[in-house]
Amino acid sequence: MDREDEPVSSARKFAVYGNPIKHSKSPIIHTAFAAQFGHRIEYRAVRVELGDFERSARAFFERGGAGLNVTVPFKPEAAAFADRLSERARRAGAANTLHPAADGAILGDNTDGLGLVRDMVVNLGWAVQGARVLVLGAGGAARGVLEPLLLERPHSLYIANRTASKAGELAGIFGELGDVAGGGLEDLEGRAFDLVINATSAGLSGEVPPLPPAMLTERSCCYDMVYGAEPTAFMRWAAQHAAWAVADGLGMLVEQAAESYYRWHQARPETGPVIRQVREVLA
Ligand code: ATR
Repeated sequence: MDREDEPVSSARKFAVYGNPIKHSKSPIIHTAFAAQFGHRIEYRAVRVELGDFERSARAFFERGGAGLNVTVPFKPEAAAFADRLSERARRAGAANTLHPAADGAILGDNTDGLGLVRDMVVNLGWAVQGARVLVLGAGGAARGVLEPLLLERPHSLYIANRTASKAGELAGIFGELGDVAGGGLEDLEGRAFDLVINATSAGLSGEVPPLPPAMLTERSCCYDMVYGAEPTAFMRWAAQHAAWAVADGLGMLVEQAAESYYRWHQARPETGPVIRQVREVLA
C-alpha cells in the first residue's frame, strides 16, 4: 500500500514513559477519561532504558505525539527536557506532563501535587487549609507535592526525613511559600499533626519509618502516596494508632492524570468512576 493510501488515524497519540512501567495504570485511566468525551486517543505505556529518556521523548514529539506523562525515574530529566516549565515543576525540579505548545516548544508541568491536594480536599473532604501538615520524606515524591500543598495555606508544614539535612534543604527551597520547617524523624517527638502524608519509599520494602504515635491526635488524617491492592504498611500503622482517617494514593494517581488530561484536551474528566474502576482492577 502506498503511504498516501494508508488510512489516516485521527487518534491523537499519548504515552507514559518510565522504568519500570509494566504495572502502570495510566493507559487504563486515560482511556477511561477519553471514553467520557468520545475523544479518540492512543495511550501507550513505554519502558524507556536508563539514559535514553531525552532521545525517546524527542522522537515521540517529532512523530507527532500530543502528550507525554513521565514517571519514575525520569521526572527530573523531563523537567530538564522541557523548553518551558510551570513554576511548580521548576520548584519541584521534576515534570510529569509534557506537551507541545502551538509554537512547537515543549511545555513541562508537574500535576502530582495538584492531584494529591484534590484527592484529599475534594474526594476525601480533608482540610489542608489551616492544618498542621507533616510530610514524611524529602526525596522526589515529597518535593513534587510541596508547592501545591503550601498554596492551600496550611497552618504549618513540617518535613521530616530519615536524613534530616535533606528535609532542611527542602524547607529552605519552599520556605518562601509558607511556614515550613524540616528535621529528622527523631525531631517529631513532642509535635502533633492534623494531616500526615507519607512520601517516603519505605513502604516499598514493607517498612514504616519510626514514628512517635503521640504525633497523631484523634482528628489526624493519614495519607500514603503509594497504593496497592491491600492497605499499605503506613496505613496499617496509622489505623493501629487511632488515626481519624487513612487513605492510599490511588485517588492522587487518578487526579494527577485528570490534571494532565485537562492540559492536553481542555476537558475535565469525572474522576470518581475511574478511581472505582482502577480499584477493581487492583483487587
Ligand atoms: P522518591 O522519588 O520515591 O521520593 P527518593 O528520592 O529515593 O524516592 O526518596 C526516598 C525517600 O524515602 C527519602 O526521603 C528516604 O529517606 P533518606 O533521604 O534518608 O534516604 C525515604 N526512605 C526510604 N526508605 C526509608 C525507610 N526505611 N525509613 C525512612 N525513610 C525512608
